[in-house]
Amino acid sequence: MKVLAISGSPRPRGNTYTLLTHALTVLAAEGLETEYVSLHEKDIRPCLACEKCATDKNRCAQEDDFNGLYRQMAQADALLVGSPVYFGSATPNLMALLDRAGYVARMGDNPFHRKVGSPLVVARRAGVNFTYAQLMFFFIISGMIVPGATYWPIAYGRTPGEVTKDEEGLKTITALAHNVAWLLKKLA
Ligand SMILES: Cc1cc2nc3c(=O)[nH]c(=O)nc-3n(C[C@H](O)[C@H](O)[C@H](O)COP(=O)(O)O)c2cc1C
Repeated sequence: MKVLAISGSPRPRGNTYTLLTHALTVLAAEGLETEYVSLHEKDIRPCLACEKCATDKNRCAQEDDFNGLYRQMAQADALLVGSPVYFGSATPNLMALLDRAGYVARMGDNPFHRKVGSPLVVARRAGVNFTYAQLMFFFIISGMIVPGATYWPIAYGRTPGEVTKDEEGLKTITALAHNVAWLLKKLA
């Protein structure tokens, strides 16, 4: 069983990376296969609302990095999606991916139905709950199953790596990862 983690941060080794790789380390120790993708190296543009996915099925008409990543998402058994908070919400890079993935899925065979997953969020100070809720809209409308943790999966830090000082944040992400593994094994 494979867990795919996607970072919506433009920083290659920022706090979102730290949190997601922390979760993947726990999941790997639980015996799961893991994969990490960062949107900083992907060209994924916003949805054009062309509706071509309604006829093409399971693909987007735009020629960028979307279709490859959509296939990776579709093949994974669980998805972790991480974002820093930017002006109180998720990054536009990540929202471009989720808008298109959500729409292509709904117009096609919805590969996310009953898949396990969760958002996780990092910020310097404010906007974590809103951003977590914002990302949850994708998971819930897609019919995904989202496990809890010991707190909402959020953590604090500003400069790259600073999030490692947030002990409670890391503990929450550890608990989330164990619950993802537990759920995947139950559903297998
Ligand atoms: C454009 C921009 C907007 C930001 N807006 C917020 C914000 O609204 N609230 C907050 O607490 N932190 C905000 N931050 C700080 C980031 O969320 C924080 O530095 C985070 O750790 C970055 O994660 P990353 O290292 O994975 O990119 C902002 C940072 C940038 C660059």
